Amino acid sequence: MILVTGGLGYIGSHTVVVLQQAGYEVILLDNLSNSSVEVLDSIEKITTKRPLFYEVDVTVYADLEKVIQSHANDIQGIIHFAAKKAVSESMAYPSLYYQQNMNAWTNVLHAATQFSLSNIVFSSSSTVYGQPESNPITEDFPYQSPASSIYAHTKQLGELFLQNVVSSKLKGLALRYFNPIGAHASAWIGEQPQGIPNNLMPYITQVAIGIQPFLRIFGADYPTPDGTCVRDYIHVVDLANAHLKAINLLLHPAYELTYDVYNIGTGLGYSVLDVMHSFNKVYGKDIPYKIVGRRAGDVPLYYSDPNKANEKLGWKAQFSLDDMTADAWRWENHLRNR
Ligand code: UFG
Repeated sequence: MILVTGGLGYIGSHTVVVLQQAGYEVILLDNLSNSSVEVLDSIEKITTKRPLFYEVDVTVYADLEKVIQSHANDIQGIIHFAAKKAVSESMAYPSLYYQQNMNAWTNVLHAATQFSLSNIVFSSSSTVYGQPESNPITEDFPYQSPASSIYAHTKQLGELFLQNVVSSKLKGLALRYFNPIGAHASAWIGEQPQGIPNNLMPYITQVAIGIQPFLRIFGADYPTPDGTCVRDYIHVVDLANAHLKAINLLLHPAYELTYDVYNIGTGLGYSVLDVMHSFNKVYGKDIPYKIVGRRAGDVPLYYSDPNKANEKLGWKAQFSLDDMTADAWRWENHLRNR
């Protein structure tokens, strides 16, 4: 049985699906602050199984403790997603981000220790690297200091907390996600941004469906092949599968490392224009766009070296950029027409 915190969110829900499809029982905790309880029905539709759900805010230790206490004998591993994740919001409310993200994580780590649980996966981010000196980025690249945002700093700190708490009894892995986009091919689950989307993919699909008038491309004068920023976009189902592989690795009897970290990306860099052109192919026409000024804090170009995950985790991204944009579009349509 795997305990998943934040399991109704974008990445969490896709991970619960792949865990259940692989035969794991799931206990799902979520405080519904940025997710909806209907996602449980969608998970059940896809997998024909309803995870055990507790509406719990993991920043409240007593509530987390109660759930873990009642399942401690069955919990084989924990995947911790529950966190605030908006870069710009983290700059506006720094103390809130430290309070929420670090309380949640230290509570989970402490409960795991208190109940002698063994395996834990931390949801980290490629933002820990900031602007790298070169590409592709390998796991031994240094943390950017100071971090590019408070959000990125909570991920750097989260990794360090894990590193300092693990032992031969409690093993941990941190997964550094590059840019997850797309949705489950069934279109039952996907990303549900609140308000105007900050991120590129949901913004594009909202332009196509008529909610936003045009895509604003933040800068076309970067030192990149076409002048727009380059990212390593990864299909959210590929990312979910990386969590399954991480749990399988931790549970393997021969696995001995107490702490390790993996980049989870495709190793390919695509520009904002590449993503828009891929989307236009599935959309069948061209979405309207305008080149506007640069967005503060954007890094021009970075992408992963995923070789460590390919070799040691036995994980490799399967989906192409065209798969990602097609699935994102199917999801947006499903969201508006159901
Ligand atoms: N972009 C636009 N127009 C938009 C939105 C985005 O041109 O309306 C551009 C951005 O300027 C950037 C690229 O599209 O060049 C990607 O932007 P996103 O906001 O989609 O993604 P980021 O790379 O900025 O950050 C995302 C998440 C973070 C996460 C990070 C990991 O927001 O939470 O990926 O790399 F940590």
